[in-house]
Amino acid sequence: MRGQRDGTLLARLTSDVEAVAGLPANVGAPLAAAVTITCLIQILLLWAMPLPGVAELVVRAAGLVRARRAHCRARAHLRTAAEARAALRTVLLGSRAAGLASAPNVMDIDFMDIWGKCDDMLVHQDEPYNAETPPGALAAQITSLDAFYGRNHAPIPRIDSASWRLRVEGLVDRPLELSMDDLRHFTERTVVATLQCAGNRRADLIEVRDIPGQVPWGPGAISTAKWTGASLADVLAEAGAQPEAAHIAFTGADMSQQAAPPQPFGGSIPVAKATSSEVLLAWAMNDQELPAAHGAPLRVIVPGWIGARSVKWLQRISAEAEPTDNYFQAEYSVLPPEADPEAVGPGDGITLGPVAIHCAILRPGKNDHLPSGPTEVSGFAFAGDDRTVARVDVSVDHGSTWTRTDLDPPENPWTWQHWRAVVTLPPGEAELIARAWDSTAAVQAESPATVWNPRGYANNAAAHLHITCRP
Ligand code: MTE
Repeated sequence: MRGQRDGTLLARLTSDVEAVAGLPANVGAPLAAAVTITCLIQILLLWAMPLPGVAELVVRAAGLVRARRAHCRARAHLRTAAEARAALRTVLLGSRAAGLASAPNVMDIDFMDIWGKCDDMLVHQDEPYNAETPPGALAAQITSLDAFYGRNHAPIPRIDSASWRLRVEGLVDRPLELSMDDLRHFTERTVVATLQCAGNRRADLIEVRDIPGQVPWGPGAISTAKWTGASLADVLAEAGAQPEAAHIAFTGADMSQQAAPPQPFGGSIPVAKATSSEVLLAWAMNDQELPAAHGAPLRVIVPGWIGARSVKWLQRISAEAEPTDNYFQAEYSVLPPEADPEAVGPGDGITLGPVAIHCAILRPGKNDHLPSGPTEVSGFAFAGDDRTVARVDVSVDHGSTWTRTDLDPPENPWTWQHWRAVVTLPPGEAELIARAWDSTAAVQAESPATVWNPRGYANNAAAHLHITCRP
């Protein structure tokens, strides 16, 4: 009886795996991987039963998962986990109707939750994991861990913190090799800081002119957390950085195929910034242990600078006379509009460091239906470096007149500031514009066309939102 049941189950699993193999490429990699993984799990449950053909089926299903994940690198069909689940449900119901489904638990698999993220994350790629914070979460002063954006250039490494060591070397009097316990002996410091990817809002630049091969980030590659760790200045003082040390270079543990030959992710910052009290070697985020996806066991936090310099899974700190020659130091630079990114050399671009003044509109949302008349609009602005946001204005008449917003005071120079204002929306089509000024009186560029560059970095143009209001 049992043998007969197992045989039937095996036959169903075989046909499920074949059905997954036959799914069209555009069904979406996360979905296909989820279905395949479910089959795999059930097959593994059968593993103990010495049925002929199980081993081959496991190998076939595992190969499918790998193939689908590779496909995912090139395309991002399903933007949110919620969308993925909805699509999954459709396929599941369809396959049940066709008598295929042997995987009733497929809906329980939280395949987008591998990195502890919420359903609403806007996922561009699942490997390397690149996902934006959902608009709703950008309104909070501190971003919860499950909504904090993720930006990666290689698979996320999982590091054993007990055997992990940080090397501090280069132009130092006393090279160090530090365990997590050693690091916890330094004075513990906490900084609330906003992290923003240099590619944030690349999608608006792509509307001006295409930027092939780069993640089309919307406005959510930015988040704020409370970071806790040791001050980099204290660690450098312990190592005795020499007077010739002008730059501090960081190297992570993840090996990125984006560089040829592949390189670990890295970057450097000038020693003046590295020894500022706000720069941390962080082991905690929002009072919790640093998650694997955000760099555990230790990452650098360089407040006010582009996210790329806040190197995760830190393995090595090196005091150098020059900026690092790591691929990602030069990659994160603004090239002239006519430059060919494949043909440029180091020094051809403006290497990015401090973030430039930037703002975003959170309310109304992109496709909100609004009545005309007085309405509250809101958003945030981020000044970057050690500047603060001095003013944010909004306009509903193409910039002829501006309304000054009510702006939150800065918690410190390294965090975003939220703003709000009541404006009178006209009936019909309108364009809501928000522009921010920083404490040096620098203001945002008027449009993305002004700041377009071939790799699509540092889009700090004023925020524009097209709206249609009912009379
Ligand atoms: N560090 C390593 N080792 N590898 C990376 O890919 N990405 C950088 C930075 N540090 C990266 C890294 C970039 S471009 C950004 S914007 C931030 O990490 C994103 O940090 P998060 O994923 O914790 O939000």
